[in-house]
Amino acid sequence: MQEKLNQLQQKIEEAKLGGGEKRIEAQHKKGKLTARERLELLFDKGSFQEMGMLVQHRSTNFGLDKQKFLGDGVVTGYGKVAGRLVYAFSQDFTVLGGSLAEAHAEKICKIMDLAMKNGAPVIGLNDSGGARIQEGVVSLGGYADIFYRNTLASGVIPQLSAIMGPCAGGAVYSPALTDFILMVENTSYMFVTGPNVVKTVTNEDVTAEELGGADTHAAKSGVTHFACANEVDAINHLKQLISYVPSNCEEEAPRLAYIAGNESREKLNNIIPENPNQPYDIREVIAETTDSDTFLEVHKDYAENIVVGFARLAGRSIGVVANQPSVLAGVLDVNSSKKGARFVRFCDAFNIPLLVFEDVPGFLPGTDQEWNAIITNGAKLLYAFCEATVPRVTVITRKAYGGAYDVMNSKHIGADMNFAWPSAEIAVMGAKGAAEIIFRKEISEAADSAAKLKEKEAEYAELFANPYNAAVRGYVDEIIKPDQTRERLIRAFEMLENKVDNLPKKRHGNIPL
Ligand code: HXC
Repeated sequence: MQEKLNQLQQKIEEAKLGGGEKRIEAQHKKGKLTARERLELLFDKGSFQEMGMLVQHRSTNFGLDKQKFLGDGVVTGYGKVAGRLVYAFSQDFTVLGGSLAEAHAEKICKIMDLAMKNGAPVIGLNDSGGARIQEGVVSLGGYADIFYRNTLASGVIPQLSAIMGPCAGGAVYSPALTDFILMVENTSYMFVTGPNVVKTVTNEDVTAEELGGADTHAAKSGVTHFACANEVDAINHLKQLISYVPSNCEEEAPRLAYIAGNESREKLNNIIPENPNQPYDIREVIAETTDSDTFLEVHKDYAENIVVGFARLAGRSIGVVANQPSVLAGVLDVNSSKKGARFVRFCDAFNIPLLVFEDVPGFLPGTDQEWNAIITNGAKLLYAFCEATVPRVTVITRKAYGGAYDVMNSKHIGADMNFAWPSAEIAVMGAKGAAEIIFRKEISEAADSAAKLKEKEAEYAELFANPYNAAVRGYVDEIIKPDQTRERLIRAFEMLENKVDNLPKKRHGNIPL
């Protein structure tokens, strides 16, 4: 028996060495952790259970018969993250560049299938040269098996992807099908075709970092939701994300204990500037309203005119969507509509109530916006709110103009409780623009046109730049003092705790993609 035990121990050690000490050293030199080190950081101490440690590739082409690695370049298994079941795979770049082949893909599919059957999140730690070139179509098939499972699992279990190294070619599409992507600055990149192909086809000179590094995808393309300073930061972000989401679509997100106290927040009374055209940072409103230091901003550097993220309110996990008056006056445009819509749909899929802060002057005008389909893209956000059945509450802090009033979680499209601050202005458009249109003749014929415009502007503002017309109709449920906001929100979400709302029976809707 001792001999057999020794043999087993030898195999375990061989598997743990992956591609060998030299390659592990090279990985560390690049500032990267190994696949196993990452899993150790992610899971609660000692809780990770590996599966398929001894799996090997089957191909014998191009010398692969002489080079066999236990585990086939990916570590897969399950364990506990803050005490909750999570499945994970972690690609091992030291083995054939973490390339994905038949056996490698089968291991990933196995844990995805288990995750679906057991209703728990899957985390992918990606670090791979893509399809294993020696295995040909079998590698491509392996990717497709994963894509298929990603899609079936979408909306059933949360799927998170951390990009810890290269992620190129079709390999990018598995992360793209998951709910959140995190990238590590300077050591990870994602692109469909790399700099060399780009140079050949478009004659552009671009580095891998510029083309598909973390900052590029965080700020320009919006492909990644988080750009993390290093791998430890990325893993901490994964844990934070997991803490806000339920294990599957049938469950509620974990709730922290909360002892009610004085919920009045005086500071909120002083955030809105006297001048309605002056900006302020909506993050201050979010920070004052939600539980201290709980706001986890998603897509922070992309379409900054809308702010989205997770927070806690009296211990309950909520999704926050807020116009940002300090960037482009908080207008809705193509990118902010897409960003908002994606977040709303995630929250709705996973039973996370939605809190909306509204201060929006409307949709952004211009050829750039029209030609980039603000119509279709704006409709995404509208559609996402319309079909959301989770508890939904809105606070109008200042402007709620035009179509954006309808879109930003108005009562008309299914919001449950709508509050407005006394500073709210709810109208078809701003007073100046309105006066210029409806009093055009009177203004042009006046002896002093500028004075007439001012007079008519004031007249319109007096009538519409307030929340009272909306409150009279019941479009706003209550006009509240800003300092009462937190207390009202806690009460509203408590009241909505058992909300049941069903959409009409259908195969699926047709969101304007
Ligand atoms: C087999 C691979 C590999 C791959 C890397 N390796 N990528 N082996 N298939 N796809 C091996 C290398 O041969 C090398 O082995 C080891 O991994 C480390 O690679 P290096 O090149 O030394 O590392 P580095 O300098 O860090 O460069 C990393 C890299 C580069 C940028 C990822 O390896 C690379 O360009 N690889 C090819 C990328 C690619 O074109 N993949 C296919 C994409 S298309 P040794 O033994 O020398 O250490 C695709 C289609 C998917 O993925 C379609 C799904 C729909």
